[in-house]
Amino acid sequence: MKLLSGTSNPQLAQKVAAKLNIEVLDCKISKFKNGEKRVWIKNKIAGENVCLVQSFSQPVDENIIEMLLLIDALERAGARHVSVVIPWMGYSLQDKVFRPGEAIAAKVVADLLSNSHVKRVILLDLHNSSIPGFFSIPTHHLLALDPFVKYAKKNFDMKNSIVVSPDFGGLKRARTFAEELKIELVNVDKQRNVKTGQVITRGISGEVKGRTCLIYDDIINTGGTVIEVAKFLKEKGAKEVHFLITHALFAGQGLEKMSDPSIDSVIITNSVYHDNLPSKIKVIDIAPEIAESLRSWV
Ligand code: R5P
Repeated sequence: MKLLSGTSNPQLAQKVAAKLNIEVLDCKISKFKNGEKRVWIKNKIAGENVCLVQSFSQPVDENIIEMLLLIDALERAGARHVSVVIPWMGYSLQDKVFRPGEAIAAKVVADLLSNSHVKRVILLDLHNSSIPGFFSIPTHHLLALDPFVKYAKKNFDMKNSIVVSPDFGGLKRARTFAEELKIELVNVDKQRNVKTGQVITRGISGEVKGRTCLIYDDIINTGGTVIEVAKFLKEKGAKEVHFLITHALFAGQGLEKMSDPSIDSVIITNSVYHDNLPSKIKVIDIAPEIAESLRSWV
Protein backbone atom coordinates (compact mmCIF):
# COMPACT_ATOMS: atom_id res chain seq x y z
CA MET A 1 0.00 0.00 0.00
CA LYS A 2 1.08 3.58 -0.70
CA LEU A 3 -0.20 6.66 1.06
CA LEU A 4 -1.40 9.85 -0.57
CA SER A 5 -2.02 13.04 1.38
CA GLY A 6 -4.31 15.93 0.53
CA THR A 7 -3.29 19.40 1.69
CA SER A 8 -5.49 19.52 4.81
CA ASN A 9 -3.35 17.45 7.21
CA PRO A 10 -0.08 16.19 5.66
CA GLN A 11 1.48 16.08 9.16
CA LEU A 12 -0.96 13.36 10.23
CA ALA A 13 -0.59 11.51 6.90
CA GLN A 14 3.21 11.42 7.36
CA LYS A 15 2.79 9.99 10.85
CA VAL A 16 0.43 7.26 9.59
CA ALA A 17 2.88 6.39 6.77
CA ALA A 18 5.78 6.26 9.25
CA LYS A 19 3.83 3.89 11.53
CA LEU A 20 3.12 1.57 8.59
CA ASN A 21 6.53 2.05 7.03
CA ILE A 22 4.97 2.87 3.65
CA GLU A 23 5.81 5.45 0.99
CA VAL A 24 4.01 8.80 0.73
CA LEU A 25 3.28 9.53 -2.93
CA ASP A 26 4.69 12.61 -4.58
CA CYS A 27 1.77 14.79 -5.58
CA LYS A 28 1.54 18.37 -6.74
CA ILE A 29 -1.63 20.16 -5.73
CA SER A 30 -2.01 23.65 -7.12
CA LYS A 31 -4.68 26.12 -8.15
CA PHE A 32 -5.50 27.69 -11.48
CA LYS A 33 -5.84 31.47 -11.49
CA ASN A 34 -9.63 31.09 -11.57
CA GLY A 35 -9.54 29.26 -8.21
CA GLU A 36 -9.98 25.69 -9.52
CA LYS A 37 -7.84 23.00 -7.88
CA ARG A 38 -5.44 20.92 -9.97
CA VAL A 39 -3.85 17.67 -8.78
CA TRP A 40 -0.96 15.73 -10.29
CA ILE A 41 0.28 12.42 -8.85
CA LYS A 42 3.83 11.97 -10.09
CA ASN A 43 4.55 8.33 -9.08
CA LYS A 44 3.57 5.21 -11.01
CA ILE A 45 0.74 3.60 -9.05
CA ALA A 46 -0.84 1.14 -11.49
CA GLY A 47 -1.97 -1.96 -9.60
CA GLU A 48 -1.16 -0.46 -6.17
CA ASN A 49 -3.49 -0.15 -3.21
CA VAL A 50 -3.54 3.50 -2.14
CA CYS A 51 -4.79 5.10 1.03
CA LEU A 52 -5.71 8.78 0.80
CA VAL A 53 -5.77 10.93 3.95
CA GLN A 54 -7.78 14.14 3.99
CA SER A 55 -9.64 15.99 6.75
CA PHE A 56 -12.60 18.10 5.73
CA SER A 57 -11.38 21.02 7.80
CA GLN A 58 -11.29 24.61 6.56
CA PRO A 59 -11.48 25.41 3.66
CA VAL A 60 -14.06 22.61 3.86
CA ASP A 61 -15.51 22.64 0.34
CA GLU A 62 -12.08 22.99 -1.24
CA ASN A 63 -10.74 20.04 0.74
CA ILE A 64 -13.67 17.87 -0.33
CA ILE A 65 -13.22 18.73 -4.03
CA GLU A 66 -9.47 18.18 -3.69
CA MET A 67 -10.13 14.69 -2.32
CA LEU A 68 -12.54 13.86 -5.17
CA LEU A 69 -9.95 15.04 -7.74
CA LEU A 70 -7.27 12.90 -6.06
CA ILE A 71 -9.56 9.86 -6.13
CA ASP A 72 -10.22 10.42 -9.84
CA ALA A 73 -6.50 10.86 -10.56
CA LEU A 74 -5.72 7.62 -8.69
CA GLU A 75 -8.37 5.71 -10.63
CA ARG A 76 -7.14 7.06 -13.98
CA ALA A 77 -3.55 6.18 -13.09
CA GLY A 78 -4.65 2.57 -12.49
CA ALA A 79 -4.63 2.31 -8.69
CA ARG A 80 -6.07 -1.05 -7.61
CA HIS A 81 -8.05 -0.18 -4.46
CA VAL A 82 -8.41 3.30 -3.04
CA SER A 83 -9.22 3.67 0.66
CA VAL A 84 -9.82 7.07 2.17
CA VAL A 85 -9.23 8.19 5.74
CA ILE A 86 -11.30 11.20 6.74
CA PRO A 87 -10.10 12.01 10.27
CA TRP A 88 -12.59 14.89 10.52
CA MET A 89 -15.67 14.61 8.32
CA GLY A 90 -16.88 18.13 7.61
CA TYR A 91 -20.69 18.41 7.16
CA SER A 92 -21.22 15.49 9.57
CA LEU A 93 -23.02 17.75 12.05
CA GLN A 94 -25.74 18.35 9.43
CA ASP A 95 -27.08 14.83 9.87
CA LYS A 96 -30.81 15.58 9.72
CA VAL A 97 -33.30 18.23 8.62
CA PHE A 98 -33.35 20.56 11.64
CA ARG A 99 -35.81 22.98 9.98
CA PRO A 100 -38.02 22.23 6.96
CA GLY A 101 -36.22 23.30 3.81
CA GLU A 102 -32.73 22.27 4.96
CA ALA A 103 -30.45 19.66 3.34
CA ILE A 104 -29.00 16.55 5.00
CA ALA A 105 -25.48 17.63 4.11
CA ALA A 106 -23.80 14.60 5.72
CA LYS A 107 -25.74 12.34 3.32
CA VAL A 108 -24.76 14.51 0.33
CA VAL A 109 -21.07 14.16 1.21
CA ALA A 110 -21.45 10.41 1.86
CA ASP A 111 -23.10 10.03 -1.57
CA LEU A 112 -20.28 11.94 -3.27
CA LEU A 113 -17.74 9.50 -1.86
CA SER A 114 -19.89 6.40 -2.37
CA ASN A 115 -20.23 7.32 -6.05
CA SER A 116 -16.50 7.89 -6.53
CA HIS A 117 -13.98 5.09 -7.10
CA VAL A 118 -13.38 4.55 -3.38
CA LYS A 119 -13.40 1.01 -1.94
CA ARG A 120 -13.70 1.87 1.75
CA VAL A 121 -13.85 4.88 4.05
CA ILE A 122 -12.28 5.21 7.50
CA LEU A 123 -13.89 7.78 9.77
CA LEU A 124 -13.14 8.96 13.29
CA ASP A 125 -15.44 9.81 16.22
CA LEU A 126 -18.50 10.91 14.31
CA HIS A 127 -21.07 13.14 15.97
CA ASN A 128 -23.76 10.65 15.02
CA SER A 129 -22.91 6.94 14.91
CA SER A 130 -25.53 6.40 12.17
CA ILE A 131 -23.47 8.37 9.63
CA PRO A 132 -21.44 5.33 8.45
CA GLY A 133 -24.80 3.98 7.24
CA PHE A 134 -25.20 7.03 4.97
CA PHE A 135 -22.45 5.53 2.76
CA SER A 136 -23.18 2.74 0.30
CA ILE A 137 -19.58 1.45 0.48
CA PRO A 138 -17.85 -0.21 3.46
CA THR A 139 -16.93 2.15 6.29
CA HIS A 140 -14.89 1.76 9.43
CA HIS A 141 -15.72 4.04 12.36
CA LEU A 142 -12.65 4.53 14.58
CA LEU A 143 -12.85 5.86 18.13
CA ALA A 144 -10.29 7.97 19.94
CA LEU A 145 -11.57 6.52 23.23
CA ASP A 146 -8.46 4.47 24.12
CA PRO A 147 -5.91 7.29 23.80
CA PHE A 148 -8.17 9.60 25.81
CA VAL A 149 -8.61 6.94 28.52
CA LYS A 150 -4.83 6.47 28.68
CA TYR A 151 -4.29 10.24 28.90
CA ALA A 152 -6.88 10.67 31.66
CA LYS A 153 -5.51 7.78 33.77
CA LYS A 154 -1.99 9.18 33.47
CA ASN A 155 -2.75 12.85 34.10
CA PHE A 156 -5.70 13.05 36.50
CA ASP A 157 -6.41 11.68 39.96
CA MET A 158 -9.20 9.18 39.32
CA LYS A 159 -10.24 9.27 43.00
CA ASN A 160 -11.45 12.86 42.69
CA SER A 161 -12.42 12.95 39.01
CA ILE A 162 -15.85 12.83 37.47
CA VAL A 163 -16.85 12.57 33.79
CA VAL A 164 -19.21 15.24 32.48
CA SER A 165 -21.30 15.00 29.34
CA PRO A 166 -21.84 18.55 28.03
CA ASP A 167 -25.34 17.69 26.77
CA PHE A 168 -27.88 14.86 26.45
CA GLY A 169 -26.71 14.11 22.89
CA GLY A 170 -23.23 13.20 24.14
CA LEU A 171 -24.39 11.11 27.10
CA LYS A 172 -23.74 7.69 25.51
CA ARG A 173 -20.20 8.70 24.47
CA ALA A 174 -19.44 10.13 27.92
CA ARG A 175 -20.90 7.09 29.66
CA THR A 176 -18.50 4.79 27.79
CA PHE A 177 -15.61 7.05 28.84
CA ALA A 178 -16.75 7.03 32.49
CA GLU A 179 -17.14 3.24 32.43
CA GLU A 180 -13.62 2.82 31.05
CA LEU A 181 -12.26 5.08 33.80
CA LYS A 182 -14.56 3.47 36.41
CA ILE A 183 -15.68 6.87 37.69
CA GLU A 184 -18.97 8.71 38.10
CA LEU A 185 -20.81 10.45 35.27
CA VAL A 186 -22.94 13.59 35.36
CA ASN A 187 -24.79 15.37 32.57
CA VAL A 188 -25.14 19.06 31.86
CA ASP A 189 -28.49 20.18 30.48
CA LYS A 190 -27.22 22.31 27.59
CA GLN A 191 -29.42 23.73 24.91
CA ARG A 192 -28.62 25.54 21.69
CA ASN A 193 -30.75 28.08 19.88
CA VAL A 194 -31.14 26.58 16.38
CA LYS A 195 -31.27 30.07 14.80
CA THR A 196 -28.53 31.95 16.68
CA GLY A 197 -26.38 28.94 17.71
CA GLN A 198 -26.15 30.41 21.23
CA VAL A 199 -25.48 27.86 23.98
CA ILE A 200 -27.36 27.97 27.31
CA THR A 201 -26.71 25.72 30.32
CA ARG A 202 -29.77 25.03 32.48
CA GLY A 203 -28.81 22.41 35.04
CA ILE A 204 -26.71 19.42 36.00
CA SER A 205 -27.61 15.88 37.07
CA GLY A 206 -25.13 15.55 40.00
CA GLU A 207 -22.66 17.20 42.40
CA VAL A 208 -19.37 18.61 41.03
CA LYS A 209 -18.24 20.69 44.04
CA GLY A 210 -14.53 20.18 44.72
CA ARG A 211 -14.24 17.62 41.89
CA THR A 212 -12.00 17.48 38.82
CA CYS A 213 -14.41 17.52 35.89
CA LEU A 214 -13.42 15.67 32.70
CA ILE A 215 -15.75 16.79 29.93
CA TYR A 216 -15.80 14.27 27.09
CA ASP A 217 -17.14 15.41 23.71
CA ASP A 218 -16.70 14.92 19.96
CA ILE A 219 -16.06 18.41 18.64
CA ILE A 220 -15.09 21.97 19.46
CA ASN A 221 -16.64 24.03 16.72
CA THR A 222 -17.04 27.69 17.74
CA GLY A 223 -15.99 26.92 21.34
CA GLY A 224 -19.37 28.12 22.66
CA THR A 225 -20.08 24.82 24.43
CA VAL A 226 -16.64 24.61 26.04
CA ILE A 227 -16.74 28.10 27.49
CA GLU A 228 -20.36 27.92 28.69
CA VAL A 229 -19.90 24.50 30.31
CA ALA A 230 -16.58 25.50 31.93
CA LYS A 231 -18.06 28.65 33.47
CA PHE A 232 -21.14 26.74 34.61
CA LEU A 233 -19.09 23.97 36.29
CA LYS A 234 -16.80 26.46 38.03
CA GLU A 235 -19.86 28.36 39.29
CA LYS A 236 -21.11 25.03 40.69
CA GLY A 237 -17.84 24.70 42.63
CA ALA A 238 -15.78 22.38 40.36
CA LYS A 239 -12.11 22.35 41.38
CA GLU A 240 -10.74 21.84 37.87
CA VAL A 241 -12.33 21.67 34.44
CA HIS A 242 -10.59 19.72 31.66
CA PHE A 243 -12.01 19.03 28.20
CA LEU A 244 -11.14 15.87 26.22
CA ILE A 245 -12.49 16.41 22.71
CA THR A 246 -11.55 14.59 19.50
CA HIS A 247 -11.96 17.25 16.81
CA ALA A 248 -10.90 20.87 17.30
CA LEU A 249 -12.12 23.16 14.54
CA PHE A 250 -11.78 26.43 16.48
CA ALA A 251 -14.18 28.17 14.08
CA GLY A 252 -14.39 31.96 14.34
CA GLN A 253 -12.99 33.06 17.71
CA GLY A 254 -12.94 29.43 18.95
CA LEU A 255 -9.24 29.34 19.79
CA GLU A 256 -9.30 32.67 21.67
CA LYS A 257 -12.19 31.35 23.81
CA MET A 258 -9.96 28.52 25.11
CA SER A 259 -7.88 31.07 27.06
CA ASP A 260 -10.79 31.75 29.45
CA PRO A 261 -9.58 31.17 33.04
CA SER A 262 -12.51 28.84 33.78
CA ILE A 263 -10.91 26.27 31.41
CA ASP A 264 -7.96 24.40 32.97
CA SER A 265 -6.92 22.36 29.94
CA VAL A 266 -8.19 21.19 26.58
CA ILE A 267 -7.00 17.85 25.18
CA ILE A 268 -7.67 17.32 21.50
CA THR A 269 -6.40 15.00 18.74
CA ASN A 270 -4.57 15.90 15.55
CA SER A 271 -7.59 14.97 13.36
CA VAL A 272 -7.44 18.65 12.34
CA TYR A 273 -4.02 20.26 12.06
CA HIS A 274 -3.12 23.29 14.18
CA ASP A 275 0.25 24.79 14.94
CA ASN A 276 1.41 27.19 17.66
CA LEU A 277 -1.29 26.16 20.10
CA PRO A 278 -1.17 27.62 23.62
CA SER A 279 0.32 25.33 26.30
CA LYS A 280 -3.14 24.84 27.84
CA ILE A 281 -4.10 22.83 24.73
CA LYS A 282 -2.54 19.35 24.48
CA VAL A 283 -2.66 17.25 21.32
CA ILE A 284 -2.99 13.45 21.31
CA ASP A 285 -1.64 11.77 18.17
CA ILE A 286 -4.34 9.68 16.50
CA ALA A 287 -1.98 8.23 13.85
CA PRO A 288 -1.47 4.88 15.71
CA GLU A 289 -5.24 4.17 15.66
CA ILE A 290 -5.50 5.07 11.95
CA ALA A 291 -2.39 3.03 11.07
CA GLU A 292 -3.72 -0.01 12.96
CA SER A 293 -7.01 0.14 11.03
CA LEU A 294 -5.08 0.11 7.73
CA ARG A 295 -2.53 -2.53 8.65
CA SER A 296 -4.36 -5.49 7.14
CA TRP A 297 -4.30 -3.81 3.69
CA VAL A 298 -0.61 -2.86 3.72
C1 R5P B 1 -22.94 19.07 20.09
O1 R5P B 1 -23.86 18.30 20.14
C2 R5P B 1 -21.53 18.65 19.90
O2 R5P B 1 -21.25 17.46 20.55
C3 R5P B 1 -20.57 19.75 20.36
O3 R5P B 1 -20.76 19.95 21.75
C4 R5P B 1 -20.83 21.03 19.61
O4 R5P B 1 -20.90 20.78 18.23
C5 R5P B 1 -19.76 22.03 19.88
O5 R5P B 1 -20.03 23.19 19.14
P1 R5P B 1 -19.54 24.62 19.63
O6 R5P B 1 -18.07 24.52 19.88
O7 R5P B 1 -19.87 25.54 18.47
O8 R5P B 1 -20.34 24.95 20.84
